[in-house]
Amino acid sequence: MSKRYTITAALPYTNGPIHIGHLAGVYVPADIYARYKRLTGNDVAFICGSDEHGVPITIKAKKEGVTPQDIVDKYHAIIKTSFEDFGITFDNYSRTSAKIHHDTASEFFKTLYDKHEFVEEVTEQLYDEEANQFLADRFVTGTCPKCGNEEAYGDQCENCGSSLNATELINPKSAITGNVPTLKETKHWFLPLNKHENFLREWILKGHKKDWKPNVYGQVKSWIDDGLRPRAVTRDLDWGIPVPVPGGEGKVLYVWFDAPIGYISATKEWAAREGKDWEPYWKDENTKLVHFIGKDNIVFHCIIFPAMLKAEGSYILPDNVPANEFLNLEGNKLSTSKNWAVWLPDYLKDFPNQQDVLRYALTANAPESKDNDFTWKDFQARNNNELVAIFGNFINRVVVLTNKYYDGIVPEASEFSEVDKETLATVKAYPSVIESSIERYRFREASQELMNLARLGNKYLADEEPWKLVKTDEARTKTIMYVALQIASALATLSEPFLPFTSEKLKRILSVSSSAVENQWADISTKDVLLPSGHHIGKGELLFSKIEDKTIQEQLDKLEASKKANEAANKTLEPQKDTITFEDFTKLDIRVGTILEAEKMPKTKKLLVLKVDTGIDTRTIVSGIAESFTPEEVVGKQVTVLVNLAPRKLRGVESEGMILMTETPDGKLVFVNPDTTVNSGLQIS
Ligand code: MF3
Ligand code: ZN
Repeated sequence: MSKRYTITAALPYTNGPIHIGHLAGVYVPADIYARYKRLTGNDVAFICGSDEHGVPITIKAKKEGVTPQDIVDKYHAIIKTSFEDFGITFDNYSRTSAKIHHDTASEFFKTLYDKHEFVEEVTEQLYDEEANQFLADRFVTGTCPKCGNEEAYGDQCENCGSSLNATELINPKSAITGNVPTLKETKHWFLPLNKHENFLREWILKGHKKDWKPNVYGQVKSWIDDGLRPRAVTRDLDWGIPVPVPGGEGKVLYVWFDAPIGYISATKEWAAREGKDWEPYWKDENTKLVHFIGKDNIVFHCIIFPAMLKAEGSYILPDNVPANEFLNLEGNKLSTSKNWAVWLPDYLKDFPNQQDVLRYALTANAPESKDNDFTWKDFQARNNNELVAIFGNFINRVVVLTNKYYDGIVPEASEFSEVDKETLATVKAYPSVIESSIERYRFREASQELMNLARLGNKYLADEEPWKLVKTDEARTKTIMYVALQIASALATLSEPFLPFTSEKLKRILSVSSSAVENQWADISTKDVLLPSGHHIGKGELLFSKIEDKTIQEQLDKLEASKKANEAANKTLEPQKDTITFEDFTKLDIRVGTILEAEKMPKTKKLLVLKVDTGIDTRTIVSGIAESFTPEEVVGKQVTVLVNLAPRKLRGVESEGMILMTETPDGKLVFVNPDTTVNSGLQIS
């Protein structure tokens, strides 16, 4: 039965590209769902866009010395293109700086204002005297009053997930100047969430929302049980949508007030373009509204936005909010600021035409019920052991054999064996097996069921061995190949939501229409024949190729380099040591030395044994520089030497002095040396 679906994916902040955490948590599952719903004949609006307001964008602009508009223009283009190249099939990817959004959000605010749904209040807010600015949201950090995390933000604690007001932070600190904020009075409009508590309790806790994912339901329940408080929906900022009511001059809408309305504006923009009416997608009770988000967005989509929609009065509420947990990368939390991520544009560059490999790896290992780890090794294994060895191998055998034995024409089947009948019956059951996983938002389970179908095909061929029978039993071979071709055809359709590029290729190989033919999905269950005898299939194409260790190592090296660079950038300088007297200084005898010989200290990684001409004598100095220099590199170098350091034994070799060194940001040692050649023994003072 065809139904109308409004499917939204969290609007990404436009201050950086998309990374695998965003993809696994939100965009890949949302796209699977949207594709599946279209394929099964529903009316779908799949909506997203750039979230272009909010403090992180203004902070980034300040840091780079450009305007916030420059930042969002840059990343909006990058994000939009990379989603397209990755095969995310948004019906509209809009942006919150669009006029239609400013108008829609303003109007929404005015409606609530006119309905007296806001509480207007002058309160004391945090203020940075030096920056001349009120501090809210990400402009202020401090200790979370709920869990004690010292790096909580003014709007949210990422450790415990609590949503906060900036004034609740313990020991608040300005993110602009580092100063301790003062308090200053200002007027704001508050959404009295407490007023909506009963409705939320009824709707979520007592309503049918028990079928929400346990992680979502649990979080929402604990917030409601904690008691809801009024929440300011305006800010003293100059980047955002102006507050459209008297007294709102110089103030803007809170980013989390305007952003979810972005789903509505983007739907309007799409409908206008398509010549459709947008309203049923948001106002018809028969429409199913589903929000795909990450877990840090739960409160906004399950409490605040529904309260806004309810207060407005004419909108439907979400049917489900299938939020995912977080994806980590190689054991560490993904981080944009620490550059600990796999960026989508980089992936697309490094792995051309391999979108489906990442889609599959992220789905098969999706953080659906708990945080999960992405590793490049797992990515490689998913590709080599599943996509190549099972799915690709099965299709390849079917296509090669059909072309070889029958010139690419689907043969006639004669009598079906028990195994054939069972196999065909199993194929018929697959759409509903996969469907039932998708309907419960269990995409990893669904992806494994898809792989199970390929596994079934592989096993069928391995057991039936048409390549042996072809010499002795022509009729039986034809029947086997006929059955195998039906499985291949089912795979072409069922893989579409998960592996869209592969599905398209496979349809081309099998010469079946790749447009969303009505009921293709249902046909698998209802029709006895998917690829009829006499149908001419096309030439084989490689669906997947093996990923070598070298390729994986390159990615690991890239991460390692980014970690090093980040550590170097964050290295804090040691505080200055205690003051010494001039007499103390004159005790140091520092001279120019020339390295005459060098060899590695046996059985050590770091040490070189040097013979150094100090001008006074030639002496042995043991130096921990072997990881930065080979012995050959240092011979002949002039270096700075502390010559009157008391001798000490290192690994049995007496070292009579110390070479002065410093370290580059990536950890390589460099000599402190004179910039022209001078005589050994010259004193440095
Ligand atoms: N920009 C937010 C984030 O990345 C998500 C906004 S979702 C919306 O966490 F509902 F506000 F649009
Ligand atoms: Zn906390």
